[in-house]
Amino acid sequence: MQRHDASHPADAVVVGGGIIGLVTAWRAALRGLRTVVADPEPGGGAAQVAAGMLAPVTELQYGEQALLDLNLAAVRRYPAFAAELEETTGLDLGYRACGTLAVALDADDRAELRELHDFQTSLGLSAQWLSGRECRRLEPMLAPGVRGGLRVDGDHQVDPRRLVAALLRACELSGVVFRRAAVAGVDVAGDRARGVVLDDGTVLAAGQTVLAAGSRSGLLGGLPEHLLPPVRPVKGQVLRLRVPAAYAPFLSRTVRAVVRGAHVYLVPRENGELVVGATSEEMGWDTTVTAGGVYELLRDAHELVPGLTELPLVETVAGLRPGSPDNAPMLGRTALDGLLVATGHHRNGVLLTPLTGDVMAEVLTGGEPPEVARPFSPGRFTPQEQYV
Ligand code: GLY
Repeated sequence: MQRHDASHPADAVVVGGGIIGLVTAWRAALRGLRTVVADPEPGGGAAQVAAGMLAPVTELQYGEQALLDLNLAAVRRYPAFAAELEETTGLDLGYRACGTLAVALDADDRAELRELHDFQTSLGLSAQWLSGRECRRLEPMLAPGVRGGLRVDGDHQVDPRRLVAALLRACELSGVVFRRAAVAGVDVAGDRARGVVLDDGTVLAAGQTVLAAGSRSGLLGGLPEHLLPPVRPVKGQVLRLRVPAAYAPFLSRTVRAVVRGAHVYLVPRENGELVVGATSEEMGWDTTVTAGGVYELLRDAHELVPGLTELPLVETVAGLRPGSPDNAPMLGRTALDGLLVATGHHRNGVLLTPLTGDVMAEVLTGGEPPEVARPFSPGRFTPQEQYV
């Protein structure tokens, strides 16, 4: 039986306390909305696994030009967002404007990277082609076999675990209420959403409900199929190594590589952590760290930076990216009054965090998404909305 919890009247309830839910709640609270985040363990989710690359140019994919515009807007937004969040919380985010070097190991890898460079250039993006020798001059730990690379000074990094911690703190400081409970479904009455139902039957009433539970956002009860965001889990396995002080600086910027067709990246933090990622596997809800996943990451990373096998391996972990049918996010209102969505960020959750907060707060307070976010309306996957 459902029990109504009148002690938590809210303007907005956000389902999911990962980075996307937290940033939405924080920015909504700053606009004066009474906001609740419902999550059994706020601060968890994919950001606990992610490497934190802010790399729209080196992560560019063919056919994703609209997403590129959003990602470029996001990377431009980062410095001011990071400064505001750090000032609000007193916590360091590990934001590092270090640039990225993308390198190639063999002739085929070089051809692939050359094509990417042509594509970047055709879109007016700034990326500088370097010879193998020039790459090694920048990063002396690179293998002698590196054939060439792309230097992209605008692709940066942040530490996602620190980002989550700061967002939790910012939410607390701005009066966001946390309900540490699982959400069973959305409470729908007539033709509008009016909050959520927790696992124990408690109803959290709210004027607006935001689904921001990452890859689990499509699993909620109470909604007809066509209103559930079509997200799927995309598994990523990641390693964390430690660079002892005597080896520092091991790498001075993010290094990505195509190694015999496989993609690997190394993200060095100022605190000595070195993140190596990531697999991309369509394995459903499985988050097992496998011998094969670790082997492939270490094999490719070792080929790229041979000295890496000397470093202590301190963590192996797997997480789930929320992938939508076009691998781009869903941001904004749905066809059901009072129901909004912020998920589907796939490879770009950390990068898109600040922008997502701004877009969702604007929509939650009655505004329209900015031009750059309009292609990412949740309605693009709802056939009846596409043709009205
Ligand atoms: N953006 C890096 C990844 O998803 O692995």
